[in-house]
Amino acid sequence: MKTIEELNLKNKTVILRCDLNVSIKDGKIIDNTKIKASLKTIEYILDHNARVIIMSHLGRIKTEEDKEKYDMRIVYDELNRLLPKKIEFVDATSGSKLKKAVKNLEYGKGILIQNIRYEDLNKNKESSCDKKLSKSWAKLADLYVNDAFGTIHRSHASNYGIPMYLESAVGFLIMHELENLNRLDNPKRPFVVIMGGSKISDKIGIIKSLIKQADYILIGGAMAFTFLEAKGYKVGNSMYEEKYLDYCKDLIKHYGDRIILPTDIYGTFDLTDKPDVVLQDVDMIPKNFIGLDIGDETIKLFQSILKNTKTVFWNGPLGYYENERFRYGTNQILKYLKDNVDTVILGGGDIVGCANLLNYTKDITFASTGGGATLKYLENHNQPGLEIIN
Ligand code: 3PG
Repeated sequence: MKTIEELNLKNKTVILRCDLNVSIKDGKIIDNTKIKASLKTIEYILDHNARVIIMSHLGRIKTEEDKEKYDMRIVYDELNRLLPKKIEFVDATSGSKLKKAVKNLEYGKGILIQNIRYEDLNKNKESSCDKKLSKSWAKLADLYVNDAFGTIHRSHASNYGIPMYLESAVGFLIMHELENLNRLDNPKRPFVVIMGGSKISDKIGIIKSLIKQADYILIGGAMAFTFLEAKGYKVGNSMYEEKYLDYCKDLIKHYGDRIILPTDIYGTFDLTDKPDVVLQDVDMIPKNFIGLDIGDETIKLFQSILKNTKTVFWNGPLGYYENERFRYGTNQILKYLKDNVDTVILGGGDIVGCANLLNYTKDITFASTGGGATLKYLENHNQPGLEIIN
């Protein structure tokens, strides 16, 4: 795959697609990892005396109200704070305002444009890879660089449409991601995958292919309750997805000895800021119980499997880590990995954010900026955003 180092950037105009889709709470960026990870490519382009048009999505734009919630200016402020050479912000995603801003841009200078998913309010133009939009963006530049690893599994105008019309390459962030994730092609064994988090439907389908690569899959987080329910347990008011019960039953039937589920669960009957925490065995979960973390026996069970493990890939926290009373399980397993496992790769904003919060990032081999993208890449390296560069 062509890399940015193979492009002749001098006195050229470059469209750079980044993934600056950071989590925002109460008007503040919670974790700026993705912004920091994008700096190297931006600086490289500017240092080669090219003009750079930086594009990114932020959140998902479905209504006019979403536009205010996901205005790119908050990202712009943080990006400019971190960049040694300052860039300008252009409050447009297409049209004459954008064209004029590019025309007036000097070489060695850059702009960040407004959230490209604003275009989705106009017939889903970005997400449906609208040809006209892709072409009009491509016309603004001479070269295209994709550094948005988090969206390689999407075929959108900004990461699939534009490179159809321009000489294209990947940036340093994507190069770094692939180098690290490719370690999992031939992992030192035993190789264990840990899956958790609350986005069950986004990820559960990938377990079928991951179980063929991994020796064991340890399941926690909300996903565990769909499996427990499929095994015939009652999970009370815990989050689970009924439509995946048959799928989980099938997985348990074929791989039940290698898919490891919790045997006990921490939870509560009333989820407030400071809830009372109760421990329950999985075969005794009462009706009104909300399961929110793995229990002590499960922690020991997971640790016994991780004891001789050489490689771990982990996606999604094992509990509702946003509440400090339910991050115990994730904390204990992170601690155990730090002391016992050589190669640990984390993928997904929540588990990376949780590791940051608990101060384990420095002990981790690699923390991927992708969530769904990382899982899709492990399942199949040939993702649309990479294939089009090839
Ligand atoms: C992510 O956060 O995983 C990426 O930015 C992709 O976002 P998306 O799932 O909204 O395309």
